[in-house]
Amino acid sequence: MHHHFYQELTFPYPAHRPFIACNMVTSLDGKVTADGTQPSSLGSSFDLKTMGVIRSHFDAVLAGGNTIRLHPYYLGVPVELEGSRQGRGLARQPLTVLLTQSGNLDPFSSLFTKAPRPPIIITSTAGAQNLTSSIQGQSKIEIMENPDPQSITTLLQTKYAVKRLLVEGGPSVNYQFMQAKLMDDLFLTLHPSLIGKRTDLSLSAGDHVLEKAHDIQLISVNREGNELFLHYRITW
Ligand SMILES: NC(=O)c1ccc[n+]([C@@H]2O[C@H](COP(=O)([O-])OP(=O)(O)OC[C@H]3O[C@@H](n4cnc5c(N)ncnc54)[C@H](OP(=O)(O)O)[C@@H]3O)[C@@H](O)[C@H]2O)c1
Repeated sequence: MHHHFYQELTFPYPAHRPFIACNMVTSLDGKVTADGTQPSSLGSSFDLKTMGVIRSHFDAVLAGGNTIRLHPYYLGVPVELEGSRQGRGLARQPLTVLLTQSGNLDPFSSLFTKAPRPPIIITSTAGAQNLTSSIQGQSKIEIMENPDPQSITTLLQTKYAVKRLLVEGGPSVNYQFMQAKLMDDLFLTLHPSLIGKRTDLSLSAGDHVLEKAHDIQLISVNREGNELFLHYRITW
């Protein structure tokens, strides 16, 4: 791969907890879904590449149940980025972490059948009972009733040695991490499209207005074609 502007990234290490970032792509009218119940990617093929480059800096990549049901793929990096991960002292592929209360996941998806590492599924007791035996055999199940970002992060740090965690949505998962002030960086792709539909979501979706961050710094701006790639650092 040619040099990518996110190839060299340095992150601070917060004391006592993993560093946490989020990566999302949004339309010009602020939507991250386009008819939210349909699988769709708002970004370009370059944005998809960029997603891999960002993942290549993280120990684990996490997503919520709705996102995974629409895009049931391992949250990994292309083979050509494995070497740069190893050069950074990271495992060849990041861990995939799935959040699901219901345990409603497709056992035939490549997420399970072609996983380079067993995905971690954080789910409730009832959710675990819903997982097929093949999913149970192919993943690591962590039972937590109504877990919050703090307990999820602590589990990933203490049991799976996660020092850098990338949250890839969807909006309801992002909201929980922002509300818990467990979001250090935001990678945002601004894609030249307009969605318009009222019910489509923005990058954070919850019940309350988030507490105002102390400071949000724009670390870098990059342009590729008509897309903008923004990297922000949040201080809560
Ligand atoms: N544009 C982008 O960059 C981007 C990125 C990612 C996703 N998306 C889009 O976002 C949409 C989905 O977003 P969403 O907000 O509806 O859903 P979501 O955040 O992907 O998933 C919500 C689900 O995650 C599980 N979950 C959330 N918090 C949990 C917790 N604390 N403990 C256990 N399980 C938890 C539950 O799964 P169960 O229902 O299984 O119980 C919940 O229903 C999709 O359309 C997707 O394409 C866009």
